[in-house]
Amino acid sequence: MIAVVLVGGEGTRLRPLTLDEPKPVLPIGGVPFASLLLDRLAAAGVSRVILSCGYLPERLAAGIGEPPPGVEVEVVVEDEPLGTAGAIAFAARGRVDGPYLALNGDVLGDADLGALVAEHRDAGARATILLTPVDDPTRYGVVVTDPDGTVERFVEKPPTADGLGPAPWWVNAGAYVLEPDVLADVPADRMTSIEREIFPDLVGHGLRALRSAGYWRDIGTLESFLAANADAVRGRVHTRLGGADGAVLVDPAAAVDAAARLVGPVRVCAGARVEAGAEVGPDAVVGPDAVVAAGARVHGTVLLAGAAVGPDAEVADSAVGCDATVGAGAALRGCALGTGAEAAAGERLADARRPG
Ligand code: GDD
Ligand code: MG
Repeated sequence: MIAVVLVGGEGTRLRPLTLDEPKPVLPIGGVPFASLLLDRLAAAGVSRVILSCGYLPERLAAGIGEPPPGVEVEVVVEDEPLGTAGAIAFAARGRVDGPYLALNGDVLGDADLGALVAEHRDAGARATILLTPVDDPTRYGVVVTDPDGTVERFVEKPPTADGLGPAPWWVNAGAYVLEPDVLADVPADRMTSIEREIFPDLVGHGLRALRSAGYWRDIGTLESFLAANADAVRGRVHTRLGGADGAVLVDPAAAVDAAARLVGPVRVCAGARVEAGAEVGPDAVVGPDAVVAAGARVHGTVLLAGAAVGPDAEVADSAVGCDATVGAGAALRGCALGTGAEAAAGERLADARRPG
């Protein structure tokens, strides 16, 4: 089975973290998000993954790490963004000759994609969409089905929930199985949206959907990125991290002083250092080679690789980019620091975005 993963977005809502790293390379629990996606595809029996990208393709290729055994990864780069349908068609052209998976590359989930493929085959569908329940339908593609799973309506980002039935609303989870002919006629020279142009036209012509109540989160904002990290360490989403509620996951190659306090759920990655009197957690990830100095407090926060928090600083509900530094005694809340950015000693910052 082949999977096409859409990773062309610039991740604008996650700036400055995405100014020099594409979103799929950002870490969840210290592991590049795309690596977790590859684990999931491998578990579903996928042997070839085509990453469809346009933004920072070299960083993407370098940042995803070693693919799981038996999975081959190819990076395909568009000259211009082709939209979701155009990008899938461009990546699939000449590479697929049977049903294939297509995924949005910014969703952390653990629904069984193998079951989606099986359902598609058993029903003889032309396209099958995975669905997840949400409370706010206006940010997603709402999919109305009959009890049998046949799609009756597909409405991308409806302005209101009027006329869409009662909550919860079942929306497009960003994972599909497609027959090769579905996107065969998509033009190669203009943007085409699978959500706005293809799926609405396919209603009544073999478009089906499968509901899943598994974990699901779009990681596109600072809040959801931090929440996805916490959920992975807590084990709310099934990943290779093997998290659990209250888990204290310390890599054997990390140095945590005996007089430091770790409050689970927390993860400390290889090469990281937590000094005496520091308190880390709950809901914190100390990335590879990151440092939390003596007396500092870090909670609800992700420190990316090589980030450093100075003595007696407090960092809450924030993301500190690669090699960024927080000076001694500084206090940050709800902030995102880009690669190499600096918060000065004693500085107080709330809800700030600071590029490096
Ligand atoms: N290669 C490529 N080219 N990728 C693209 C392009 C493009 O032109 N446009 C978007 N993408 C990628 C993004 O990087 C992302 O991984 C995915 O396609 C979806 O785009 P988003 O911009 O994140 O869309 P959204 O989150 O507003 O809505 C989509 O996802 C929802 C679930 O999270 C839609 O598919 C909704 O229907 C769905 O409910
Ligand atoms: Mg998205």
